[in-house]
Amino acid sequence: MIVFENVSKKYDNNQSAVNYLNLEIKKGEFFVIIGPSGCGKTTLLKMINRLIHLTEGTIRIEGKRISDYDIHELRWNIGYVLQQIALFPHMTIEENVAIVPELKKWSKKQIQCRVHDLLNMVGLEAEKYSHRKPAELSGGEQQRVGVVRALAADPEIILMDEPFSALDPLSRTKLQDDLLTLQRTIKKTIVFVSHDMQEALKLGDRICVMKDGEIVQLGTPQEIMQNPVNDFVREFIGLTGDISDTFNIQSIIQPISKEDGYLQVLHKVSVNDSLRVILNKLVHHECLSVDRDGEIIGIITRESIIKYLAKDSLERG
Ligand SMILES: Nc1ncnc2c1ncn2[C@@H]1O[C@H](COP(=O)(O)OP(=O)(O)O)[C@@H](O)[C@H]1O
Ligand SMILES: [Mg+2]
Repeated sequence: MIVFENVSKKYDNNQSAVNYLNLEIKKGEFFVIIGPSGCGKTTLLKMINRLIHLTEGTIRIEGKRISDYDIHELRWNIGYVLQQIALFPHMTIEENVAIVPELKKWSKKQIQCRVHDLLNMVGLEAEKYSHRKPAELSGGEQQRVGVVRALAADPEIILMDEPFSALDPLSRTKLQDDLLTLQRTIKKTIVFVSHDMQEALKLGDRICVMKDGEIVQLGTPQEIMQNPVNDFVREFIGLTGDISDTFNIQSIIQPISKEDGYLQVLHKVSVNDSLRVILNKLVHHECLSVDRDGEIIGIITRESIIKYLAKDSLERG
């Protein structure tokens, strides 16, 4: 769908913000780009809709070079959501959302239907919100409108540059959840920039970890969590991640012979139990048996979990 071939971007200072990047984003994919500040995420994103011109290489969308598209055609068919809420303050919510459909000369009726449907879809009751001005909405509500505006003209691709990072944690979680649900309904190709690993793991079908304008690792959330390619990725996961999210019970289960009769008298946990549940049980019991689909597959002990936690905290410094 979107292909980068040896793409580089140098700004005037002659440093490469993006360095010979090769990348293929698939149709319908939720693709997350993550990395520390200054690693080239925004540059990468803005090259897709030609807000920034690449210095070298080629970007193709559906096989066609982006430079061969009419610039309006390209921009109008790519939704774009920014970190800063960028609604026009003097226009109503409805007018803000209608901008691109109007440029594309949709009929008034068609635009109104679309705006109302979309507002309702993200939980903003159209009757109540469409005639308000942005200032009459909370930050979270405004950012919802930002998302709706990017979707308005039904683009195949949506670019999102840290869209939720200015929000309070609660609105942020809610918008992430809504975006996931929305993505399952509309099946668009979403390229989403984040600097938060938790967010990336939650949203991404695949995650591209960047550093200094280059790709360090590209894979599914599971691949990255289980096999970080180097210390940089490991640290990135560790520094921003919460141990309870990365906890892997398999790594501390001690196998045991099924004939051991005493296993039946032990208190049980499930392989799917969270770290919190397991810790609570270990307060009262030295040793627990681990159950998977009715079968005991091993034991975990207080000692093994303390070792696990100690190792993790050492690795986190
Ligand atoms: N307009 C610009 N002129 C010169 N350097 C820039 C410009 N925009 C970004 N940069 C530099 O390019 C690098 C990548 O920036 P950016 O893509 O914004 O990173 P990120 O979004 O990952 O924080 C940084 O070193 C930044 O200082
Ligand atoms: Mg940026």
